[in-house]
Amino acid sequence: MSKMNLPSDANASGRSFGEEERKELMQVLESGTLNCTRGRTVIAFEKEFAELHGVPHARCVTSGTAAVHTAVNAIDPEPGDEIVTTPITDMGALTPIVYQSAIPVFADTDPVTMNVTAETIEPCLSARTKAVIVTHLFGNPCEMGPIMELCKARGIPVIEDAAQAFLSEIDGKKVGTIGDIGCFSFQQGKHMTTGEGGVVITKDDTLFRRMKLFSDKAWPYGEANPDHEFLALNYRMTELQGAVALGQLHKLEKNVAQRIRTAERLSAALEGIPGLILPKAPKGGKHTYWRYPLMVDETKIKGGPDLLGARLKEQGVYCAPRYIVKPAFECKIFIDQVTFGRSGFPFRGPHMEGREEIRYDRANTPGVIEALSRVVVIPWNEKIEDKHVDWIAEMIKKTVAELSMVGEAQ
Ligand SMILES: Cc1ncc(COP(=O)(O)O)c(C=O)c1O
Repeated sequence: MSKMNLPSDANASGRSFGEEERKELMQVLESGTLNCTRGRTVIAFEKEFAELHGVPHARCVTSGTAAVHTAVNAIDPEPGDEIVTTPITDMGALTPIVYQSAIPVFADTDPVTMNVTAETIEPCLSARTKAVIVTHLFGNPCEMGPIMELCKARGIPVIEDAAQAFLSEIDGKKVGTIGDIGCFSFQQGKHMTTGEGGVVITKDDTLFRRMKLFSDKAWPYGEANPDHEFLALNYRMTELQGAVALGQLHKLEKNVAQRIRTAERLSAALEGIPGLILPKAPKGGKHTYWRYPLMVDETKIKGGPDLLGARLKEQGVYCAPRYIVKPAFECKIFIDQVTFGRSGFPFRGPHMEGREEIRYDRANTPGVIEALSRVVVIPWNEKIEDKHVDWIAEMIKKTVAELSMVGEAQ
């Protein structure tokens, strides 16, 4: 089969900008108002995004990182409070915890879905736990029923990081609407994009007020006797982003349906190949395939994800063996506690007196280590068509056949 150029979410080949975005953008430019405090599009987008999710409130911010930061700020941890999260995520989901002076506690994940579960979260909870952040990785929803039961029983708020999981569902509910706050990213490669950007959603009026304030220097526009109420930043999105966001939102359902259809076509083509574990939503779940994570068993496929990934890349199927390669807590920021000057705050400081030194250990997360040692992540986007899927499937089947150890003497 001849080489095929696959659509990429890094440029127009894999993105769906068109007349809708152009029209909205032109209107914004012609209006001359590019900031959202006086403009129309960001407010209109927030209203539509909230309605789509069946919640009263949405607030746009400048990135997914800003969304998580805004959510964590709303929970308002004291220095040294703990926030349970996953070590398989983007650093932008973790640094906000540290900026808000809390300590990340890393839960293990399921070795196949790579998501945290109630079972992996529970041993991480303590009297100091201020919140739990769950990440719906690659578009696959976490099993929220047991997680919410566990956290509700202990009065612990749940933040859902849905940066990779637009319109994913579990038990008939959209992700981002099940916990106390949902966070999304509009970074270039996400289900919908404004280049950079993000949004937080919530049902809770008090959390919403706090998030609105935090993303706007804590100045309560329109309220009586306004003042800068607390330490906060400017995370406001621009009207230019709002214009693109509106255009993108109007095709989100169609684009997500296309991702699901093509990803399921790939799974059907790869079904039953020894040594491959295919992505699958949990019972009652809807996976929306931000990426297509393929698990490779190196006892059956020579060289595991590294060799399979390298061979696929040589043939033009771009992929990321081992995803983030190491658990996030093995990055320098956490190992050397490189934070504010040389203070090591919040890992060190008077508020930590009498507490054990914070040291992260991969021995505590065997599911994470197993998952990262097996996964090959194939990029996915809404412009992938059947012909691309069929070619990717052929390349994988051919390469797996070359590397297969099934039937070989052990
Ligand atoms: C799960 C998750 N959370 C948070 C972020 C941070 O989003 P952003 O890159 O828009 O800051 C990302 C980004 O890729 C992500 O994948």
